[in-house]
Amino acid sequence: MAAGVLDESSVRALGARAEAMINELAAISAEPNRLVRLFLTPEHRQAAELVTGWMRKANLQVLEDALGTLRGRTPTSAGRRLLIGSHIDSVIDAGKYDGPLGVIAGILAAEHFARTEQKLPFGIDVLAFGDEEGSRFPSAFSTSAAVAGAFDPAMLKFADSKGITFADALAAYRKNPADIAPLYQPGEALAYVEVHIEQGPVLEAENRPLGVVTGIVGQHRMRVTVSGQAGHAGTVPIKLRQDALVGAAEMVMAVETLARGHESDGMVATVGRIEAFPGAVNVIPGRVDFTVDLRSMTDALRRAAILRIETQARRIAIARKLKVDFETVHDAPTTACAPAVQDALADAITDLGLTPVRLPSGAGHDGQMMAKLCPIGMLFVRCRGGISHNPAEYASPQDMGYAIAALIRFIERFDPG
Ligand code: HGY
Ligand code: MN
Ligand code: MN
Repeated sequence: MAAGVLDESSVRALGARAEAMINELAAISAEPNRLVRLFLTPEHRQAAELVTGWMRKANLQVLEDALGTLRGRTPTSAGRRLLIGSHIDSVIDAGKYDGPLGVIAGILAAEHFARTEQKLPFGIDVLAFGDEEGSRFPSAFSTSAAVAGAFDPAMLKFADSKGITFADALAAYRKNPADIAPLYQPGEALAYVEVHIEQGPVLEAENRPLGVVTGIVGQHRMRVTVSGQAGHAGTVPIKLRQDALVGAAEMVMAVETLARGHESDGMVATVGRIEAFPGAVNVIPGRVDFTVDLRSMTDALRRAAILRIETQARRIAIARKLKVDFETVHDAPTTACAPAVQDALADAITDLGLTPVRLPSGAGHDGQMMAKLCPIGMLFVRCRGGISHNPAEYASPQDMGYAIAALIRFIERFDPG
């Protein structure tokens, strides 16, 4: 354990604080029996109020941008800023840690420097993004894209499952799309660092509490629409049917077969949602919508796989006298974490007397947008069974304490150059 790092009791205290804050935020949900906190909803507003209060208690000046991103700034005259953040939106039926842990870690680290009055050669900005998951609108990473100056206005037309558009939801959240603008001048952001649960099994398998992310997987998300002919389930002979659901089912199997063929290079593909219309028990489905989420650490492989899926789907459609259309709703490149930031995070973990593990992220993160603005780094925290996007998601207070202590150490040692 290097001199000056936090002792075991301080680490435990940080972990206990983090656990209490995680639980307080987890209580804010649109549903009583599962965690659902979607972008630009009343629950997003309620969570933003809570996080704003935490930021203010940590002596941070809080600003909110045109997409609802919170930015808690240390009150320093230093021009350049170290950005620390994550997201406060969730998937449907989410765990408590995915996102909130990174925001809470940033707040507790800022609070540490405010309490110890340690002077830093840069300011700290803690960011709480509201649309990392893409759970409400097909877009994902819209809020970090806006911070990084890469917001795509086409997203404003996207509609949620109730037909409410991104633009309408923004107006209801009392925001004006005309105000969407990058938050940083060139050179102002030194780096972006995110603390996040691993959402995978590696750290647990290696019995290590913390890991350093080497890179974030590239992702492609698209909506596939299969159109056939609705008809009477009793009177249309099988051979005369243009059944959109059976056609979609063959396409879904083709997606899985393709991914199975890429097991060696780690590519994964998921059909997470499928909907048949009109969806009546005695009507042949005339239309089916389904989603494809395909990821690979190699952009060229990912793009070739998407083309292959489209080609196979078209072949199935022709054979079944169906029509098939594709709409790409999310395309994030494989993103490297800056080696210097990786090394500084690894050194901070070592200073705590722990052994850092370096590993890629199979999950997407806001860092893929923030990398357009500045160098990025991620600190992974062991999570039980690698489970995530599931209410069984869990990180121990001890491991969260280690992560926040390592973040504090990273900040102390960070060389702004
Ligand atoms: O889908 C993802 O990888 C991330 O959790 N949004
Ligand atoms: Mn996340
Ligand atoms: Mn997630």
